[in-house]
Parts: sequence; C-alpha cells; structure tokens
Amino acid sequence: MAKIAVIGLGYVGITTAVGMGRLGHDVIGYDISSERVMALANAKAPIHEDGLEEALGFLKQSEKVSFTHTYQEVSDFKADYFFICVPTPQDASGAANLTFVLAAAKALSQIAPADSIVVLKSTVPVGSGERVKQALSRTDIHVASNPEFLREGSALHDFMNPDRIIVGAASEQVSTRVLELYDDIPSRKIATSVESAELIKYSTNAYLATRLSFVNDLAALCEKVGASVDDLVAGLGSDSRIGPSFLSPGPGWGGSCFPKDTRALISVASDFGLDLPIIDAALESNEESLSRVVESIRDLAGGSLEGKIIGVWGLAFKANTDDIRESPAMNIVARLLARGSEVIAFDPVAVAPKASGFSQVQSAELAAAGVDVLAVLTEWPEFAQVDPIKVSKSMKSTAVMDARRVLPVDAWRSAIDNFRVLGG
Ligand code: UDX
Repeated sequence: MAKIAVIGLGYVGITTAVGMGRLGHDVIGYDISSERVMALANAKAPIHEDGLEEALGFLKQSEKVSFTHTYQEVSDFKADYFFICVPTPQDASGAANLTFVLAAAKALSQIAPADSIVVLKSTVPVGSGERVKQALSRTDIHVASNPEFLREGSALHDFMNPDRIIVGAASEQVSTRVLELYDDIPSRKIATSVESAELIKYSTNAYLATRLSFVNDLAALCEKVGASVDDLVAGLGSDSRIGPSFLSPGPGWGGSCFPKDTRALISVASDFGLDLPIIDAALESNEESLSRVVESIRDLAGGSLEGKIIGVWGLAFKANTDDIRESPAMNIVARLLARGSEVIAFDPVAVAPKASGFSQVQSAELAAAGVDVLAVLTEWPEFAQVDPIKVSKSMKSTAVMDARRVLPVDAWRSAIDNFRVLGG
C-alpha cells in the first residue's frame, strides 16, 4: 500500500482521500481551513454526499486517513504521492485560474521526497502540467494528471466505480505507478500524455453539456409539434451509439463544473487561435433553455411577471446535492425577480444566501400557498409525493410549470387547471 497526501479537501479532495483510504492506502488530507479539517477529523462530512459520513467514521477507527491544516504535518507524513485537489475557479475571461494549484505546487516543492509523484486531480486546462513542473522547480519530482469524473451527490460511488481511470505522465513508469494505486478497482485504465489526460477531462464535460443542450432543444421542439419527449428520448437512447443515460430534458444545465469547464475549453482553444462553435452553441442553447422556462412561467402568470408571486420548488443545481453554484434554478429565480416577481422557494437541502432577494420556506406546501404560479426547478423525488389537490386549494391561481418532469402528470393534470410540463 502507498502513502498518499491529498491537498485540498473540497468535493474532489475529500472523495479522493476517503476513496484512497478505502483502497487500503495510508492517507493524510490537508486543507487551509482548520474548521473543515476539524470536521473531517471528527468524521463529520462538510459536504452533502451519500455514504461519506459512514466512510469517514470507519476510516477514523482504522486510522487509515488523518487530516491536517499544516504542511509541516504533510511533510512529516513522507508521502510517495501528492494529489492536488484545490479549486480552479474561472476568471473573468472564462479561463481556469491556477493560483491555488501553483501555490500548492510551490509548497510541495519544499517538502516532497525525491522520486515522489505530484498528481493533478483538480480540473486544469491543457498545458497546466508544464506550469506545475515549473512551479515545483525540482527535477527529482514527477508530475502526472489523473482527472476525476465524479458527479456531486454520488462522488464516492463514482470514485469506487469509475467507467475508466485516466493517468497522463511523461513516462510510462510514472503512469504505471499512479495506476497501481487503483489496482483493486476493476475498470478500464488508460495511460497517456499529461496533455491528453487534461483534454479528456474537459472534452468529457463539454460533450455531456452539449448532449444536454441538444436534448433540451429537442424537448422545446416536442412541445411545439406535439411530440412526446419521453418517447423521443427512449427512441434516441435505444441507439447503441447514443445510449440511454444523461438524456433527461431540464431547465438547463449548471453546477460548479459544466459551465466553468465549457468556458475554459473555449478559452484554451482561443489561446491557440481556434473557435469551438459546437461548444459555443451549447452554451448559447443553455441560456435559451433557461429563458424558455421563464417565458413559460410568465405565460402561466397571465402574460406578465410584474407583481406576481411565484412559488419555486428546488434551488440546488440538481437533486441529491445542496450545491447552488451556477444552479439553473437560482438563475431562473434571478430572472423572475428581475422581471418584478416575488419568489417563495423551498429546497429540501440547499440554502440560498440571505441576501438573495427572495424568501425560503420550510416545506413544499408552504412554497405553493397563495402563489400565482408554482415552478418545479430541481428534480427532488419528494416533490412527486406532494398532494396536488391540497396544493391547488392553497394556490391563488392554479398554474404549475414542471421544468424537471418530476410530478406524476395524471394526478397533477386533474388537480391543476393550468399544468405545464417541460417538453410537453
Ligand atoms: C459533472 C460530470 O457529470 C462529472 O463527471 C464531472 O466530474 C463534474 O461535472 P456534476 O457537476 O456533479 O458532474 O453534475 P451532473 O450530474 O453531471 O449534472 C450537471 C447538470 O446537468 C445539472 O444541472 C443536472 O441537473 C443536469 N442534467 C444532468 C440534466 O439536465 N439532465 C441529465 O440527464 C443529467
């Protein structure tokens, strides 16, 4: 078993530390936030992830994973591998900001043992491997890229059950050393160059975002021509070249990755004088999807949003997470407020910042009481359990827009005068 240090304990870092611990490696996790380190050391999950708290408790007992907020303790640990999992936020131009990655590399250059491997797990643009090597300014340390494909809400499952494991490095020997960490995970393993590994990550997210823009555009067309989007998706997904997953129409895609990664890919391409018109179009289509939902709500409100009260079910960027970063729901709420609506929102888990300009209540029923229109913007399964008759009696006027296609259509159609489902 190996000795692994994980630098940065966000979604990716925590999942990597816990996943590597579960694979039997000795792990130390570092974060600049002592509060976060304290929570993790007490087996408390600072993020909403299925199974994480249990895994932290187990690893605490087995002493496989420890946490620290000092590089001195990381140094004393004498790791063979250093996984950099710090944020790569987007800067104004859309490019990925490597400040935290390079700062971590500089800190590691002071403490990493000779022949150790710095592994980039943070999503970094093509060419970052070279910049990390320069920041390390040591020829006796290797650099590898090992991008993650974790979905929020199922990150630990995705770590232990990947479709493939990608490692990019300058030499086969370094790639092999990193791939060996995953020996106990039966998965396709691809050793490639650092640049290829970096590009595989971005192109995966850009493709998935483009796929969703495609299906969201087709859902709008289904509404217009009276076709069934469920049957369309079933027909599309039955083609083995397309596949059935990741084809659910929605109000648009969001989260901390797709928007950032698609823009960063466009930015990298433009640095090399290349346009990526398909990905440009996917971003533009996504804006259209969000606008279409706002227009549907406006129609249901009688043609104007000014002064209307809109109930909103769901703020998180998708179900099973508390994350509202670049959430389609939050984007739509902002557009409703900008058009003069009042918004009352409920989310089972996510909490919007206080100064968001709308009220957040403690139940779905409360977010429907007295409203002109109710909009479902995140696909939380519990919304399908709410009694539509009870809801219709509490609304000012019965108009509902299900932008996530999560409500049982027949029951809601019979209880609500104006019930509209995205995609028809
Ligand atoms: C994504 C990638 O899936 C993951 O591999 C990568 O490591 C990080 O980015 P995540 O951002 O957690 O993961 O969200 P994901 O589950 O991919 O959903 C992204 C957005 O697409 C969400 O807004 C979601 O609601 C939307 N979506 C997803 C759909 O609208 N329809 C779908 O069928 C799937």
